[in-house]
Amino acid sequence: MQPLFVVERASDAGPVASMPSIVRFSVESVAQEARALAAVGIPAVLLFGIPAHKDASGTSNADPNGVVPRAVRAIKAAVPEMLVVADLCNCEYTDHGHCGILDAHGNVDNDATVAWLASVAVVYAESGVDVIAPSDMMDGRVEAIRSALDAHGFADTAILAYSAKYASAFYGPFREAAESTPQFGDRRGYQMDPPNVREALREIALDIEEGADAIMIKPGLPYLDVVRAARDAFDVPIAVYNVSGEYAMLKAAIARGWLEERAIDETLVAFVRAGADIVITYFAKEWAARNP
Ligand code: PBG
Repeated sequence: MQPLFVVERASDAGPVASMPSIVRFSVESVAQEARALAAVGIPAVLLFGIPAHKDASGTSNADPNGVVPRAVRAIKAAVPEMLVVADLCNCEYTDHGHCGILDAHGNVDNDATVAWLASVAVVYAESGVDVIAPSDMMDGRVEAIRSALDAHGFADTAILAYSAKYASAFYGPFREAAESTPQFGDRRGYQMDPPNVREALREIALDIEEGADAIMIKPGLPYLDVVRAARDAFDVPIAVYNVSGEYAMLKAAIARGWLEERAIDETLVAFVRAGADIVITYFAKEWAARNP
């Protein structure tokens, strides 16, 4: 699965400095990229929208003509067989960069955020997205999203839950690409503590109980033990997210001649060996092009 950044303002499209060969697409150009991905055999994309306007509650996230719904329609029109997954979070849409709505003390309000994201999920579903992937890490969101989708006639829209998402230093380049760096504080209140593996298994079990169709572990390479533990404990499809910092490290070392390109293949196969069914990686397109 290839992650794709889509900007609402076409003038913001272009390369991401810390992620060589990754670009931010406009709504118009993302359909073309979907065709190119299909041509090399990539069956799925994960969309991240970067809106033209941000505010405290992330209002533009629920706009039926916002960047994600428009990108979904453009991709589905160009490549109907492409599986389109939409990341669901508020951090790209809020001016403070946190993943949710803040309370009077500046803390993320879990329940207000869950209700908001469930309504955004319905807007995404109306645009024709196949899978909703909530990455906010609020408690109870999978159940709320599942009921909202079902209540609006979208029983077939699947949920890929970012179940075990750690508060990681490896998201740095992504935050540049998605303009989602928190303006104060950090995400440790809602993302998981890196040394903790048992909590990951609890979070995964809860998400499955709440109705997740597939679960995710993120980041990838530093958390392969979590992938293996999840594989041994659960029977649902498991996705692993080979995140932006993992991509940047390999790209930088390969560009300097410090590592051979096959370090990429070795990394990707490690995810499969650890038990992942779905690998989300910025290397998807180049790997598929090299391995027809
Ligand atoms: C949004 C989100 C993030 C990533 C995916 N969804 C950033 C974050 O939590 O700060 C990171 C992906 C990557 O680093 O490639 N909540």
